[in-house]
Amino acid sequence: MSYNVAVDGPAGAGKSTIARAVAKREHLIYVDTGAMYRAMALHMLRSGVNLEDKAQIVARCQEADISIRYEDGVQVVCLNGENVNAYLRTEQVGDAASRTSPVPEVRKKLVELQKKLAEENDCIMDGRDIGTRVLPHAQLKIYLTASVEVRARRRYEELVGKGETCDLARIQADIEERDYRDMHREESPLMQASDAVLVDTSAMGVEEVIDRICQEIRQRGR
Ligand code: DC
Repeated sequence: MSYNVAVDGPAGAGKSTIARAVAKREHLIYVDTGAMYRAMALHMLRSGVNLEDKAQIVARCQEADISIRYEDGVQVVCLNGENVNAYLRTEQVGDAASRTSPVPEVRKKLVELQKKLAEENDCIMDGRDIGTRVLPHAQLKIYLTASVEVRARRRYEELVGKGETCDLARIQADIEERDYRDMHREESPLMQASDAVLVDTSAMGVEEVIDRICQEIRQRGR
């Protein structure tokens, strides 16, 4: 039986940074499910779909073949055979993913892929519904969060570090809007699983969070 760690939490809580580092330390595969929803959103954007039109999203969803492979431990997301990693981490694609991911047909397709990956590999998987829906029997569940102010500040500093000009208040408003959509949608809303360990990273450094999760893994006797 495979060993699975589920990590959920709102946008900007540091899930991917933390999960990637824990994966390396604990020799797990890191599965970034947000990237799968982003690849699906990219397909919709490229197809010129009206993101308010659910029927169009459902129709286009069928023709998107999304698969995952690993190159030197790095997750590569393929959309109809093309490596699309370079196009996934833009604000436009993130926003489109937040609009298309509530559609049940989109979720069904990607959840099947996620469950299969977790069955076949020891992994740490991050997203919004991993502990509640995708891996309800994960050996460890973490709910990673931080205050909206801290998450906005981190995102702001990341963008400034890349040389982009941005507005902190705007970033915070975008995060609040995305949180609302992720937490209030009908299908698999973001919430803490009843058996998840809550880790609030507002006042924690990255190494401290990684240590904390690795400690939880050890305590469960992996
Ligand atoms: O974690 P992220 O920013 O890459 O996720 C992009 C969007 O995908 C986010 O708005 C919510 C959605 N998502 C989801 O609904 N379920 C997941 N398991 C992962 C992401």
